[in-house]
Amino acid sequence: MTQKVALITGGASGIGLAAAEALAKAGLHVVLADVQTDAAQAAVDKLHSQQLSASAVELDVTCEENWKAAIETVERDQGRLDVLVNNAGIGEGGTLESTSLNRFNRVMAVNVNGVFLGCKYGIPLMERSGGGSVINVSSIFGIVSDQLMVAYSASKGAVRTMTKSIALDCATRNNGVRVNSLHPGFIETPMVVGAAAAAPAEIIEPYTARTLGQVPVGRFGQPDELGDVIAFPASDASRFMTGSEVTVDGGFTA
Ligand code: NAI
Repeated sequence: MTQKVALITGGASGIGLAAAEALAKAGLHVVLADVQTDAAQAAVDKLHSQQLSASAVELDVTCEENWKAAIETVERDQGRLDVLVNNAGIGEGGTLESTSLNRFNRVMAVNVNGVFLGCKYGIPLMERSGGGSVINVSSIFGIVSDQLMVAYSASKGAVRTMTKSIALDCATRNNGVRVNSLHPGFIETPMVVGAAAAAPAEIIEPYTARTLGQVPVGRFGQPDELGDVIAFPASDASRFMTGSEVTVDGGFTA
């Protein structure tokens, strides 16, 4: 049987790495696409040590030329693309007052342009492979918001609605590609833990306490709790599912 192939952006860390592990364990070849090439290669080595099939490709998701090259590499080396997880993202917070236009543009470039380019260059290869599944990683902040999340919310809301637009286009063209969005709540990844460590205690401590109080299950999530969820829209078991949003947040948005 032909081995299916998944490309995961931001696959070197956090949710992307957990998705890569879950998909590799499900039998796919996983391509970890990241700007952090050393971390991506270390993750590939770890997957190989578990007899799982993986490779790494350097990719800055904001760069159109990088995307063309990465997809060419996947087609040349793997021959196909079945699953695309547009996961790479940055989580820079800030209010309207504290967010500069530069920061706003940086967040939009990675979180929105990166997903747009991934779909633009990944979906044609999926079509040539006979169809596939795209999972765009948005956030609970693509559904609800927070005063500290002006740029981030704007970016994740855009991912949510862009996902539906592209899903409708694929369905209308009957190209066999399904496109869904994933909306994680607070997950203890390097993005979240690193931001907390960098923030002044007088801001982060009340913010963390307030946030935790908003999670009905009373705890933050772990990356592997997302990896297992991503494996479902990536699989044929979800074949009637497109344009949907999957929320995994311990009840935060309930
Ligand atoms: P993380 O910081 O652990 O991992 C993000 C990965 O993306 C890193 O490997 C990083 O090198 C890569 N990356 C960043 N910019 C890139 C670029 N321009 N091109 C290619 N790769 C790039 O973060 P985490 O938490 O795993 O986040 C993954 C996704 O999940 C993001 O889109 C984030 O917004 C989203 N998310 C995370 C939540 C959380 O609580 N951790 C909650 C909701 C959504």
